[in-house]
Amino acid sequence: MRPERQRPSVPALTDPLEIGDVALRNRLYRAPLLEHAGNGPDAVDTLIADLEPAAAAGAGLVCQGATVVRAEGGCAAPGMTRVHDPEFVAELGRLTDAIHDHGGRIALQLEHGGLRSMETWHRGHRERHPELEQLAVSPPPRPLRLLDRLGFLEYDARVLTTAECRELAADFGRSAAAAVDAGYDLIHVAGANMGIVHQFLSPFYNRRDDEFGDPVRFLEVVRSEVRDRAGDVPVLTKVPAETAAPPGVGPTLSADDCVRLCERLADAGYDALVPVNGSVFWDMSVVRGAFPGASWRDERFREGYVDAFGSRPRAALVAAANWVESLVYSREPAWNADLCRRVRERVDVPVLCEGGIRGRETIDGLLGDAADAAGMARPFYAEPELPARLLREGATDARAVCADCNDCVVPQAAGEPGVCRTPSVLREAGELRRAGAYERDGERAGEAPPRR
Ligand SMILES: Cc1cc2nc3c(=O)[nH]c(=O)nc-3n(C[C@H](O)[C@H](O)[C@H](O)COP(=O)(O)O)c2cc1C
Ligand code: SF4
Repeated sequence: MRPERQRPSVPALTDPLEIGDVALRNRLYRAPLLEHAGNGPDAVDTLIADLEPAAAAGAGLVCQGATVVRAEGGCAAPGMTRVHDPEFVAELGRLTDAIHDHGGRIALQLEHGGLRSMETWHRGHRERHPELEQLAVSPPPRPLRLLDRLGFLEYDARVLTTAECRELAADFGRSAAAAVDAGYDLIHVAGANMGIVHQFLSPFYNRRDDEFGDPVRFLEVVRSEVRDRAGDVPVLTKVPAETAAPPGVGPTLSADDCVRLCERLADAGYDALVPVNGSVFWDMSVVRGAFPGASWRDERFREGYVDAFGSRPRAALVAAANWVESLVYSREPAWNADLCRRVRERVDVPVLCEGGIRGRETIDGLLGDAADAAGMARPFYAEPELPARLLREGATDARAVCADCNDCVVPQAAGEPGVCRTPSVLREAGELRRAGAYERDGERAGEAPPRR
């Protein structure tokens, strides 16, 4: 039986939070967000440039964007960093030192894309790497096979054997061990957004009849691999509810299912949970907001879109589908709050809430009710030092300047870095910077607790 955790009834944003035995100085975190750093000679400097400002500005926790646990394949998007090689991961010690110097904590998110990997959707990547296998939990479900026939995806999937599922879980453990050696404070397993862990959790993807047909089994084995190889480092994971899936696509995870999965994952030793609503497809349900028309029209990215999607007409079709999604998944503030609240009533580990959270007032309303900590992702592209504004005492009307236009998202398919591309938003952030809005003293963020 897990010991019952004491929760302050209504914590303040600047109150510390413990995840496992790691103390965060406050309850504001940068959610995992791709940095496009790769593994080249500039990788560590790119990550430091992207992530250090959040810690310097007071974020309690910085979650690095998803990194891939294998040497080959498994990248969901161009430019992802691989963490299979302990020698490379050791170099990330410069990044973890930079975060710790500011009193912050850092989580490394581990991932394999499975059927969401570039091997299935990126035409140029597939042509350049015909040797790469598409690893799958089960054969692709019928709606995805239809998308294959329509030319949006290209499946030639190989279903993992039972032994290969175990080997993949061991790779998560090996990468976690290297990460702990490099100074990471927490391990974040990429359990949602249609990566392979999500595919194990989902009845849409998982139709196995071995032990891994139990949706939680893969994450249980990952948890014990991390414990065996990396010691007592706390582990958190996103947990999907497929509530945004189109009706009739097949069996999907309801909100009730997500709550049950979270209960089992807490029992399996996960130290914090991040429940998220999404779909079974890789669509805008994860990044709700406006149709990014400007970035689809931008001629500078044209070649990259053609490389990714195979031709101009196919890229235009993907853009049209993206437009339809933007009508269905327009942004609601804090769209995961209700799901998080339901999970928080049933588990005694911290529940982290992200997705459409923009203002301090919203955050204050979530803490102690729906969530133990609040995170943001896209706003950090626009304001890397955003925590300084949100953590300021009395800053109840502080809001991120991000306009949810998604023009930072789509060009990433074309191999472009994740940066804010909206001039009016960048101007506003510039004005705030000149007015000193991102300057802070140590007290505003809460004092840095001692390291473990
Ligand atoms: C460009 C981009 C990259 C993302 N990369 C990751 C990732 O690597 N891992 C992950 O779990 N979530 C990822 N997310 C999802 C975010 O963590 C977050 O849940 C989502 O963007 C909603 O939060 P927001 O409204 O504050 O942006 C990504 C989102 C965006 C926009
Ligand atoms: S481009 Fe800028 S304003 Fe638009 S969603 Fe991305 S960060 Fe926000």
